[in-house]
Formats: sequence, structure tokens, C-alpha cells
Amino acid sequence: MVPNVAQVQLQGVTKRFGNAVAVDDLNLDIADHEFLVLLGPSGCGKTTALRMIAGLDEPTSGTITIGDDVVNGLDPSERDIAMVFQSYALYPNLTVAANIEAPLMARRRDVVTGEKVARPTSAQRRTQVEEAAALLGLSEQLDKKPGELSGGQRQRVALARAMVRHPRAFLMDEPLSNLDAKLRTQTRVELVELWRRLESTFIYVTHDQVEAMTMATRVAIMSAGKLQQVGPPQEVYDRPANLFVAEFIGSPPMNILPAELSRGDSGLAIKIAGSVIDVPTKEDLASGASGITIGIRPEHVEIDPTGDIDATVRSVELLGHEQHVVVAVDGNDLVIRQSVAADQPAPGAQINLKFERQHLHVFDSSSTQRLFTLGDLA
Ligand SMILES: Nc1ncnc2c1ncn2[C@@H]1O[C@H](COP(=O)(O)OP(=O)(O)OP(=O)(O)O)[C@@H](O)[C@H]1O
Ligand SMILES: [Mg+2]
Repeated sequence: MVPNVAQVQLQGVTKRFGNAVAVDDLNLDIADHEFLVLLGPSGCGKTTALRMIAGLDEPTSGTITIGDDVVNGLDPSERDIAMVFQSYALYPNLTVAANIEAPLMARRRDVVTGEKVARPTSAQRRTQVEEAAALLGLSEQLDKKPGELSGGQRQRVALARAMVRHPRAFLMDEPLSNLDAKLRTQTRVELVELWRRLESTFIYVTHDQVEAMTMATRVAIMSAGKLQQVGPPQEVYDRPANLFVAEFIGSPPMNILPAELSRGDSGLAIKIAGSVIDVPTKEDLASGASGITIGIRPEHVEIDPTGDIDATVRSVELLGHEQHVVVAVDGNDLVIRQSVAADQPAPGAQINLKFERQHLHVFDSSSTQRLFTLGDLA
């Protein structure tokens, strides 16, 4: 297939429904052949953002560009993009082949010239359908009806239908959420392979952070209509921009504890649950912050008799490949991720903890922004 790619740009895009702001001043530059995942909790504005790119909703303000064209005001059919939804909405009475062919039957206009494009001939249509079906492993299913297919196969028909026109970009809204866990994992791998083969731009909406972490070239995390952070999966995991991202990415989530910061001659002192971590630095890393909150991931906390943070074991959760020890520290719950080879502490036991200090993140309690991570300091 001929690669047909396009960058997608959102500049100051806002969408209001009455008084409610669904998407708030969204700025996003999506490059050619990116696999961008829009991630966030229910109601944060993901679908609304995607529908505006598709042309199903018009922004209240702001500009959307696909390729070199500002697409505000253009009909969905004039944007040369394809959208795949969670409910793949196939025509039940048509064969798989006819379902995939359907977009080729629609009259459309050239995105650049605005002139009507001639409908492909039936021989051309057949070639395009066969090409799309072959890419998705559906060649043997072309004469069947959707009702005779599995959920995963139906989802692939929806994808084949989306790609048959060689769109410049694919928009997908939770396309895997109707599949069971095993099929979801398998389809995840297939989608990434498809993206590589098509060399196309994918914009993919999900509230599932595992999908985001495993598939994305970059993740854009939203909360309450606002973009929180954009970056490669590992970067948002290792250096979350704020407390929202820190707690949203990662399972079990990052441990968050109140702390106190004081400044001495040789640097900073971070006081956590009665123990003090000295941070020798000349920099004024927390100027303006009135209070701090620290964050540390469950894999960066160790049970260690020489540790100076006191904790009480609450419970141990066994997951087969690892175990999570839930402890109370100064009235706050904290989770420790361990290998199953580790000793299982008994509930009620008094233990000592050690934080891997280079992985300790310090956030401004009021702005919620990350101020610094200890490992980044010289
Ligand atoms: N047509 C509409 N009319 C009024 N409010 C709407 C409309 N569509 C969306 N909203 C509101 O806009 C906000 C964002 O909705 P949106 O569907 O974009 O969220 P989402 O991130 O896709 O959530 P989910 O993960 O549940 O699909 C929500 O508060 C929703 O109630
Ligand atoms: Mg949605």
C-alpha cells in the first residue's frame, strides 16, 4: 500500500457544551507516522478531542490542521481520515467484503482541490478490498457475514473498512474495549504491527494505561479537559509532570506522602514520617513552594532493617509473579512491590523501610507540579 501520512496539529482547541468545558485549550502536535495515545479517566475529553479531529464536532475555538490543511468547517468525508469506534457497527446483512468496500461506494471530494473524486471501478474496489483483507488476515472470511465471526475478527473488519481508502490518519476510540483480556493483548500487538506496515498516523483514545504504555510512540495525558503531559511512555512514567500523571500512570500507582522541606547551608532536608533525607545542593529547587509532597514508586521501596522509616504491615497481596506489601506509614498507606522470592511479612509486624533515593520525586503540594527528582541532581 502507498504510505499516506499526515501530521495533525491542534492549536488552542476548546470545546464547550453549554457551560461545561469538555476540552480546554488543547495544544498538540502529532507528527507523521506517530502512534499517539490520548489517555485519561472517563469524562476527561478524549472522545470529544477525537471527534473534533474527525469533524464530527466543531471546536468552539481553536484551529485543527491535518497535513497542510486547516480542516475547521470541513465535513468528515473531506478530511481524508478514518475513524474506528468501540462499537464497530458493521452492516449485519452484508458480507465482510461488502462491509470493507462500503467507504469506497461513497461519493467524496478531493481534500486539496475540493473537486468530486470519481468512484473507483468495481475491479479497483475488489483489489483494494483484497489488499486490506490480506493485511488483516481476513482473506478467508470475505464471503461470511459479521455474525459468523469472532469479536476479534469483527474488530479487524472494522479496521479493514477504515483503511481501505488509504486515509492520511486513523482515529480510534477505545477499539479494543469490547474484547476479552486475551484477545485484547493479541489485538494490541496486531495493531502495532499494522501501524508499522501502513506507516500511517494513528491517534488512539483509551483510558487503559497498559494500552497506552505498550502501543504509543507518545502518550498525551488529559484530566478534566486539560492536557497534563505529552511524552514517550517511559518518560511520563519516570518523570511525571505533576501529581495527576504520577498517580495515573503505573499499577499499583506511585506512593504519595506528605513531607516537609527545609533549607540549610549545605542544601535541602526532606522530612518524611519522622526521618530526614539530606539533599546536598546549591540550587534553590523549591523556591515559591509552600509545601511539598513526595512520590515514590512501589518498586523503589524496600523492606530493610537498617531503613529509618517505620511502618506497620497491613496485608500482602500475592499475584503469582510478584507480591504487593501494603504498609501504613504515619497514617498513610504505602505499597511495596516485591518478587515472590521475598519473605512474606506478617500483618501487624513492625518493619523498617528504605526509599531508593534517586527515584524520589518532590512535588509542590499546591500547584501539584513536580519540582525535581533526586536522581537528576548532580
Ligand atoms: N454532546 C454532548 N453534550 C454535552 N456534554 C457532552 C457531550 N459530549 C461530551 N460531553 C461532556 O464532555 C465531557 C468530556 O466527554 P468525553 O466523551 O469527551 O469524555 P471521554 O474522555 O471520552 O470519557 P470516556 O472515557 O468515558 O469515554 C464530559 O463531561 C461529557 O459529559
Ligand atoms: Mg470516550
